[in-house]
Amino acid sequence: MDTIKGIKGVKDILPEETPRWRLIEDSARRWALCYGYQEIRIPLFELTALFARSIGAETDIVEKEMYTFPDRDGTSLTLRPEGTAGTVRAFIEHNRAADPLPQKYFYIGPMFRHERPQAGRLRQFHQFGVEFFGTSDPRADIEVIALLWRLLSDLALPALTLEINSLGSSGDRAAYKPLLRSFLSQQESRLCVNCRRRMKTNPLRVLDCKVPDCRAATESAPRLIDHLSPEALAHFDQVLAGLVAIGIPYRLNPRLVRGLDYYCLTSFEITSTHLGAQNAVGAGGRYDGLVEMLGGPSVPAVGFAIGLERVVLMLPRPSSSSFNECLYYVAAFGEKGTKLGLGLLEELRRIGLSAQCDYRAITLKAHLRQADRSKCRYAILVGDDEAARGSVILRNLSSKAQEELPLAGLSSLLKTRTFSS
Ligand code: HAM
Repeated sequence: MDTIKGIKGVKDILPEETPRWRLIEDSARRWALCYGYQEIRIPLFELTALFARSIGAETDIVEKEMYTFPDRDGTSLTLRPEGTAGTVRAFIEHNRAADPLPQKYFYIGPMFRHERPQAGRLRQFHQFGVEFFGTSDPRADIEVIALLWRLLSDLALPALTLEINSLGSSGDRAAYKPLLRSFLSQQESRLCVNCRRRMKTNPLRVLDCKVPDCRAATESAPRLIDHLSPEALAHFDQVLAGLVAIGIPYRLNPRLVRGLDYYCLTSFEITSTHLGAQNAVGAGGRYDGLVEMLGGPSVPAVGFAIGLERVVLMLPRPSSSSFNECLYYVAAFGEKGTKLGLGLLEELRRIGLSAQCDYRAITLKAHLRQADRSKCRYAILVGDDEAARGSVILRNLSSKAQEELPLAGLSSLLKTRTFSS
């Protein structure tokens, strides 16, 4: 019979990989809490309209990458392609703006985009993201960038660059769009079909197109950064000055427009030359109009998300394999030994000492082979002779040193030793 395979671009994370994932997730949680963010858990799927309205109907995500399906009553639902829209929806729905602001949230979880799978680009991927609601102060922008930078630096990721740009206010963009459009119309023959269409409806998206010909054609396009209002410019200058003050290096990238429509003012991306074509480890920016656009009050906000698969790809390999953290292998054999072993195994686990056993092994030799394979630190040998003496043999599996210990009170003795060593 044919075996059923997993879906293309949707990966299993196997037990030997989960310690790396836990390390990243634990670190992300620690840093988020340290900066005063609280965890929010939002649904994996939402009404399609939420994403279309927030991310933008003419973005790649909404046009070609969403997993959208009708619910049984015909309502259009979508697997979340990112976490900002859901967090904003929850913020509005639970009337959080009535509570004291600012409010700071973080989330970790799977996202879904139907992209062409390649290294660092999947169809189910994971993000750690933060959203800071309630202030338009540039120090909030600096704070989220600092959190992102500290987290990635703490994980010792190599060759990171913070690229930053300002997308101005909505008024700045409205004034800039005709300039861009008229430039693009002169380049129309060099643009891809998508860009020709978007040129008319949403010309900023053309600057984000990954097609090499489009990139070349827009090389000398007018720059939004040269058309910022004094307020937007002042905001940007304060963000940059703050980054200098706290020692975070950046590179201005006037082409950075981001692939989602909700951004304004500060937008940024952290890239690494250690990643291939998909070189963005994390990205974000300010989205002051989104809460209101989704039906809430006017609440400014800023945030970012990192792609955990990309972090995993870049994480330095640990020098030794600490794969199995189990402490004890219980090697129980013989009639009485086997009976005692069952109780001992359970007792160790009950008091919080990790322990395992291969129930198929019935001889000491077979147990010792399995104990070595298990990568436990110790084996506890208990056969009929030990049972008769009321003792066990504790064997250190790396040094092979052995000692005989009384069975009575063994688990508390081991617990004392474990937690005092
Ligand atoms: P984004 O740039 O679409 O922004 O995604 C953020 C990060 O998620 C990317 O930099 C990348 O590391 C990772 N990522 C995106 N797509 C994939 C994929 N197909 N496979 C693997 N990793 C991927 C957002 O999602 C915004 N919601 C970020 C944000 C939060 N802005 C404000 N708050």
